[in-house]
Order: sequence, then C-alpha cells, then structure tokens
Amino acid sequence: MANVEDIKKELENVKYPGFAKSIVEFGFVKDIQVNGTNCLVSLDITSTAPEVEAQLTKEINACLSAIGMNLTLNFNKPQEAKQSSNSVSGKNIAPQIKKIVMVSSGKGGVGKSTTTVNLAVAAAMQGKKVGILDADIYGPNIPRMMGLNGKEVEVVGDKAKPLNAYGVDVMSMGMLMEEGQALIWRGAMIMKAIQQLLRDILWEELDILFIDMPPGTGDAQLTLAQSVPVSAGINVTTPQHVALDDSRRSLDMFKKLHIPVAGIVENMSGFICPSCNTESDIFGMGTCEALAVQYDTQVLANLPIEPAIREGGDIGKPIVYFNPESISAKRYMIAADKLIAFLESVDDNISNSAIQPTTPPGVSACSTAAKPKEEPKKSDESCGTGCGCH
Ligand SMILES: Nc1ncnc2c1ncn2[C@@H]1O[C@H](COP(=O)(O)OP(=O)(O)OP(=O)(O)O)[C@@H](O)[C@H]1O
Ligand SMILES: [Mg+2]
Repeated sequence: MANVEDIKKELENVKYPGFAKSIVEFGFVKDIQVNGTNCLVSLDITSTAPEVEAQLTKEINACLSAIGMNLTLNFNKPQEAKQSSNSVSGKNIAPQIKKIVMVSSGKGGVGKSTTTVNLAVAAAMQGKKVGILDADIYGPNIPRMMGLNGKEVEVVGDKAKPLNAYGVDVMSMGMLMEEGQALIWRGAMIMKAIQQLLRDILWEELDILFIDMPPGTGDAQLTLAQSVPVSAGINVTTPQHVALDDSRRSLDMFKKLHIPVAGIVENMSGFICPSCNTESDIFGMGTCEALAVQYDTQVLANLPIEPAIREGGDIGKPIVYFNPESISAKRYMIAADKLIAFLESVDDNISNSAIQPTTPPGVSACSTAAKPKEEPKKSDESCGTGCGCH
C-alpha cells in the first residue's frame, strides 16, 4: 500500500501547467494524508484559471489511480479579483472610461489616424468628454495631427498627464519617446506598452476614449481587448476591392474579440476637386455598403479625398474643427452622431472575459515555458517560444 513518500514521488511527475517544473518542486503540495487506499492531497496554486485546476486534477488522478489510490483533492487558490468596472467579469484596467472605441484597419495608410482625430473632435464638439489614445506604437501620428508635436508631457507622481487639444485629452507613445526615435517592438513589449498607456496615464473620467490602432490584427489589438472592455470597433477602409479583402480580416478580428462593430468608414471615397468643388469617383465609391450588410453593420461615413483633410492632418488643424462647413467636416459630424447613438445602444455590460489568457497570473500569455513568480525571469532571458519577450 502506498505511503506519503510514495505519493509525493508520484506527484513529482506532475508538471504545473505551462511550466517545466513539477508541483512538488514549486512547493505547491501542502499536505498529503493517507488512510488505507484513500488519500487527501492539498495544493496551494497561484492561478485562478479553471483550466489550471482541471488539468492538475486530471493528471494527479491519473498518476495516483495507477498506484491504486483513491484521491480527494483540495485546492487552495487566490480569489478572483473583483472588478469595480463596467465589465461583468472581464478585465478592465481603466474603469474610469465609460466607452472605449477601437479604430482599426486591415492595412496601413487608409486613414485610421485621420478618422480617429476628426471623429474624436466631432464627438467633443457635441459635448462629450473625449480622449484619444494613440496605440500605434510603430508610427504614432496623433501628436502631429492634433497640433501637439514637441509638447512636453507633465508627470504627476509616477503617472503622465494627457495633453489636451480641441477639447480632447490625448496621449501617445510619440509624446513619451524622443522625436524620430524608432523602436523595434516585440510580443511582450507590445503588451506592456499598451497596458501602460492605459494604466499609467492619468486618464480622467471620459465618456469615450478613441484608440488609434497600428494597422493589422496583431498583438496590440489582442492585448487591448484583453485589458479593457471595448464597446465598439470602427473599421476604416478605402473602397478598392483589394482593400476590402483586408477589411474583412479586421472585421473578423472584431468578431473573434467579441467587439461590437459600430460601423465602417469608407475613406478616400471619391475626390473633391479644390477648384470646382465637384465630387468624382477615383477608387470606386460605395463598395463598403455590401460589406456592411455582410457584417450586419452600417457605413458611418463616405469621406472623399479632400486636400484640406490632408493639410489639416499635416499642420495639426483637424478639418472638422477648422472648416466645419466643408463637406467632409459635415460627414464626420454625422458619423460621430451615428457612433454616439450606437454607443448608447450597446449594453453597458460588455465583457472581455471570454478572451482572457489562461496562463497563471504573472505569466505572459505568449509564454509556454516561463518561470513562475518565485523565480522571476532575468530581463535577458527568453521564454524560448520566439515570442520576443526578451
Ligand atoms: N479623406 C482624405 N483626404 C485626403 N487625405 C487623406 C484622407 N484621409 C487620410 N488622408 C491622408 O492620407 C495619409 C494617411 O492617413 P492616416 O495617417 O490617417 O492613415 P493611417 O491608416 O492612420 O496610416 P497608418 O496605418 O500608417 O497609421 C495622411 O497623410 C492623411 O492626411
Ligand atoms: Mg495611423
């Protein structure tokens, strides 16, 4: 019949999920009691994830039943953190922000930043308390577009204060880095940067925070959606059919991340001639309508190519604020109206719980072989997955 030592030996074969070490080596086995063929094993684990408990239960059962023992398992695990936020059970590291809007696109250069700036200023002009977070860590353009290039960020305690322009609070990695400084961002660095831009910035209570994303559907989008409940996604695209293919990827990503889609902005849709003010078709116009139907959403606006939009971006004077009578400014205003109506219709209990990483606390979701809290990873040590976390 097995004794306590035999059982401990068996448990030395049970690896903690996601790690190379066993539950015994980690010191997670707190007590073993044996009574004939019955044994009671008590474990202290660091994860609240049900997957971790389920996997351990399965593996411990398998190895102890192989030596003829009936097992009772006792788990002592940390309480799941209560969220004082507008999310039900998901994570929210910026609970003072009522609605978060992710502005995304399948590819670069289609006008995400231009759209973000003009929609945000339009929403502020309609009386909303608005912020912009420039999460495009690869090419932060928002400071220039909001006329804030070169402005110093004030630091209060260990947090940075957003700058304000045209009634909108603004924070960007571009304000925190030296001008022109290029960084190569890799997996875990992206996660950290995005989370710091939400947590370590003194965001006030906001009705809407617009987030200008880097192009594509990568780590930044996933990290953001795992860190805060995103109430709405806006997809910006140009009307050519090749661009629409990329757009589908972006709309599919919203679906996967459970982000309600507020609509599509068809940008560079037609051209407004600065001399005669007539609108002509260049890349195709109105092609997003079918896409909107397919994804059960709406077209928020068709924005023409208008030189004043580009000029406004380059000199930091958004068209919606400086030329409100222009065709484009009026369309941005209508788009902001539609967005605000959509946000009012979206359930306040948007939750990102379904997309949380299942790795134990303190372990990057991209890591499969990192070490637990007791053995912090050295900064130059790789987790071995090629995710770039070193
Ligand atoms: N409707 C428009 N009319 C004229 N110029 C425009 C329009 N929309 C955007 N632009 C110009 O096109 C360029 C690209 O726009 P923007 O930077 O907003 O795109 P983006 O999708 O954010 O790009 P990236 O993926 O590089 O971040 C900018 O110079 C901008 O001023
Ligand atoms: Mg951009």
